[in-house]
Amino acid sequence: MSVLIKGGRIITAADDYVADIYVEDETVTLIGESLDMSADKVIDASGKYVLPGLVDPHTHLDMPFGGTVTIDDVESGQTAAAFGGTTCHVDFIIQPKGSSFADAIADWRSKANGKQVIDMGYHMAVTDLEEGGTLEELASLPDEGITSYKLFMAYKGALMVDDETLFRTMEVASETGALVMVHAENGDVIDVLVKQALEAGNTDPIYHALTRPPEAEGEATNRAIQLAHLAGAPLYVVHVTCREAVAPIALARDNGWDVWGETCTQYFFNSLDDIAKPDFEGAKYVYSPPVRDKSNWEVLWNAVRSDALSAISTDHCAFLWDGQKTLGKDDFSKIPNGGPGLENRLHMIHQFGARAGRISLNRMVELLATNPAKLFGLYPRKGTVAVGSDADLVVFDPEKKLTITAANQHSKTDYNLYEGTEVTGSPEVVLLRGNVLVEGDELVASPGIGQYVARARFGKELRQTSAVA
Ligand code: URP
Ligand code: ZN
Ligand code: ZN
Repeated sequence: MSVLIKGGRIITAADDYVADIYVEDETVTLIGESLDMSADKVIDASGKYVLPGLVDPHTHLDMPFGGTVTIDDVESGQTAAAFGGTTCHVDFIIQPKGSSFADAIADWRSKANGKQVIDMGYHMAVTDLEEGGTLEELASLPDEGITSYKLFMAYKGALMVDDETLFRTMEVASETGALVMVHAENGDVIDVLVKQALEAGNTDPIYHALTRPPEAEGEATNRAIQLAHLAGAPLYVVHVTCREAVAPIALARDNGWDVWGETCTQYFFNSLDDIAKPDFEGAKYVYSPPVRDKSNWEVLWNAVRSDALSAISTDHCAFLWDGQKTLGKDDFSKIPNGGPGLENRLHMIHQFGARAGRISLNRMVELLATNPAKLFGLYPRKGTVAVGSDADLVVFDPEKKLTITAANQHSKTDYNLYEGTEVTGSPEVVLLRGNVLVEGDELVASPGIGQYVARARFGKELRQTSAVA
């Protein structure tokens, strides 16, 4: 199968130019002006952008969590992703307590079999090094292309690990070339605050945010940074929400430490006003870390502009409002934590980032595709438009108008965090390794086309700390 994409404005993290792209055997084989070749499929991209397929480094599909299971499985979540221009994501395998890593991997792989619409890799969320996985087994995961270890410093009594587990995992990572990821909130402190709120009879969704203050995120972020530095491991802090967490990341990076931070689309747009909505509507905005006060929106835009934060993910962890979020109708601590986002990351960041002049188009591509690909061992196969790269390409119409609404989304959930938002700019054609996935409003390819991607170890060239290079 060959594809010729004519006359598009190719935008990568570094370049912005008009050219034709020729695709053969799933890869980009030629980029040039006025290419005169025949192809099985010709796409006219004049007046359109051609972006690399986006990479989402943070998703939760078909995940048991909060007493239920996320509503999007691999097929529906990846379909939503494809319509949003995301052609590769890295999902979290959660090691059940008492389980080996091998069993957890087998379980997660079976959830994806035959259902994959886009390409995917896995992180390993480590929950138990005592009665479950061993340090030796953890060290072997990069051989299977699982080159990042995730630790939850919150969710006490469920996924949370103690500092010993955190530090031992970091030590393993420093040996194996894996990247350590942390959900940085102080779970012990949050647990105290949640109990106090419930004892006082405070059960509404807003108390989810009020019992998870920014200081708890700032403290855990700083603790993880210091411990990773001590262990000599590279660190990636997921879903950063506030100035208290941005500050220690920026300081570490200024010091030349191997620390990176990510934020998520929702933290630029949702706030305490949303979670305070009446009639339990606030539960739609219950995710962790929680929505913050609006002053943090500008903090985050500045951070992604300055590279204090280097990636924007979705943390897609979708639940139904009616039937799943309602598990916490009388007790905010029982509301499953998480929100949807895979379909609208590009819409929102293009509209309010690039179009609004807050970031350049190049930086948008870098944050949504190139940096995630580099940090998670997918680059240059993914994350850019270049000869030899997978032909994961988004033909993006910068003038197409769209009103974001749950009524026409592809996620199975029954709400959208950006309901009613009007954007200009939307993917028109999405290709995965040269195969047309999405054309206009149609999903053209069938589930099963997506593949598991074994990821490379954390790139030494990314590291700033010579002592551990
Ligand atoms: O609330 C969230 N973010 N749910 C997903 C799990 C996590 O903490 O990333
Ligand atoms: Zn998290
Ligand atoms: Zn998450």
